[in-house]
Amino acid sequence: MQTGELLGSGRSADVFAIDDHWVLRRYRDGGDVTAGAAVMAYLAEHGYPVPRLRGPAGAGHRTEPRTDLVMQRLHGPSMLQALLQGTITAEEAGARLADLLHRLHSVPARVSVDPANRILHLDLHPDNVMITSGGPVVIDWCNTEEGPPGLDWGMSALILAQVAAGNTAMAAPVRAVLASLLTCLGPTMAMGNTDSGCLTEARTRRAADPSMSESETHLLDDAMDLITELTPARP
Ligand SMILES: Nc1ncnc2c1ncn2[C@@H]1O[C@H](COP(=O)(O)OP(=O)(O)O)[C@@H](O)[C@H]1O
Ligand SMILES: [Mg+2]
Repeated sequence: MQTGELLGSGRSADVFAIDDHWVLRRYRDGGDVTAGAAVMAYLAEHGYPVPRLRGPAGAGHRTEPRTDLVMQRLHGPSMLQALLQGTITAEEAGARLADLLHRLHSVPARVSVDPANRILHLDLHPDNVMITSGGPVVIDWCNTEEGPPGLDWGMSALILAQVAAGNTAMAAPVRAVLASLLTCLGPTMAMGNTDSGCLTEARTRRAADPSMSESETHLLDDAMDLITELTPARP
């Protein structure tokens, strides 16, 4: 497929404009969009804010290569850009991330028969949320799985905490986003080591992630401590 302007490039994919309404997301290293596309189509049916897909998303109906996904072009900054530009506060960013996680986990699982399982994003952080005129929209569904919601909270918290524990200019604002997210976690959510082990599982997954640099991996212990420190005491 003919591609236009490169709109964005993350760790795994390039996203090109097709026109004002559609973009092409293409894996650089031969990943497969099929599973993520089916989840996006299902979530859209349930009113969850994801980019609309062009054409039928179901397995076997797609005509594009498995590395390619054509979806609605979103207009607006990412939540990270909005944070850096000062158009959203760190507290708002954390609260919006928490709301997106809560809403995602209120959708019934698509395939799992375990009633505790939900669709998980597993990479829901401020660079994977775009702030559009219609509200925040969640992109980058390549890691999606079904499982316990605490694991999704653990992954989001740990991703933020790794940045907050580092020494870049982002550390201070991202620490405030993390504090806000953890405040919005809610007393019923099991994430910590003493609850369900979901945070430990999130750490294991992050440590095994080949796209993480050595310096990022080194921050995992400090990141875990920071989450403990910033988690509000529960009565
Ligand atoms: N539907 C979209 N509309 C406009 N830009 C997009 C869209 N999806 C992704 N992008 C841009 O492309 C970037 C990379 O896309 P993403 O799906 O997050 O891939 P990666 O897995 O490589 O992070 C995003 O950060 C964003 O800037
Ligand atoms: Mg991304």
